[in-house]
Amino acid sequence: MTDNAPRKPIRKAVFPVAGMGTRFLPATKAIPKEMLPVIDRPLIQYAVDEAREAGIDQLIFVTGRGKTAIVEHFDHAFELETTMKDREKSLEILEPTRIQPGNLVAVRQQVPLGLGHAIWCARTVVGDEPFAIFLPDELMIANKGSTGCMKQMVEAYNEVGGNLISVLEVPEEDVSSYGVIAPGAKHGALTEVTGLVEKPRREDAPSNLIISGRYILQPEVMRVLEGQEKGAGGEIQLTDAMAQMIGSQPFHAVTFAGKRYDCGSKTGMVEATLALALEREDMADEVRAIARRLLEAS
Ligand code: UTP
Repeated sequence: MTDNAPRKPIRKAVFPVAGMGTRFLPATKAIPKEMLPVIDRPLIQYAVDEAREAGIDQLIFVTGRGKTAIVEHFDHAFELETTMKDREKSLEILEPTRIQPGNLVAVRQQVPLGLGHAIWCARTVVGDEPFAIFLPDELMIANKGSTGCMKQMVEAYNEVGGNLISVLEVPEEDVSSYGVIAPGAKHGALTEVTGLVEKPRREDAPSNLIISGRYILQPEVMRVLEGQEKGAGGEIQLTDAMAQMIGSQPFHAVTFAGKRYDCGSKTGMVEATLALALEREDMADEVRAIARRLLEAS
């Protein structure tokens, strides 16, 4: 199914960052998980950079208690900048943290009732337009020569409209930890989505294609979330709300040309740090030598 109506551009992105980050305790007791760095950028910065690359400049953060550091990261740091200027240090490194006035809105999710509920908390700011969602703890790094994940999705949206989710293949024994799609017809990187299920048992999973943390959704999802009952884990699940929209609106999955690192888990964070360090000209040789030395000694 393709939507032939004129497409509204994707201008807004919702970043749900109100989760408790319990897998990273005690590191995340006072610091939000999204501020944990992979090398020298916090996770939230990677997600915001990816949004801007896709032409999205209105950022909506769904925050909770103890998450103010995320908003401050994108604020003007007067004392820091003045001191750096006095010391004749370049401010270029801070450039990605600058947001046009009025382009960052923070709303509160007062109780962490799940991802679906977090998205619903942004409903009045999203209004009546399609919007993107980024889960910042899923770090999406495009293949060399490819554009970022959300840019790939926006290009697909411009073709088919409707709702899109980013997917990737995992080993069958891993499906129970994720949202899984039931796939329909496939055209290149686009697969029609005929069903969605959150954290299925391995034997019930309709495929091994899991939803990774990027979405483009139509505003109608907010109305579905409004009446949504609690699902898996006693949380209000975004996957369940999306599943209800299949059939009434086009729904496609985009297979991302790149790699996803699950930085919500400790080993995923280590993997991302190593992988990105090995890609960086300023440190690759040194890190490779360190990794070899450690492997030989272990
Ligand atoms: P996770 O399932 O990773 O949960 O949430 P979490 O609380 O962040 O981390 P753990 O499992 O306790 O370690 C996926 C995304 O949904 C957001 C999180 O911030 C994360 O971006 N989320 C989750 C909310 O914003 N609110 C919620 O109620 C739950």
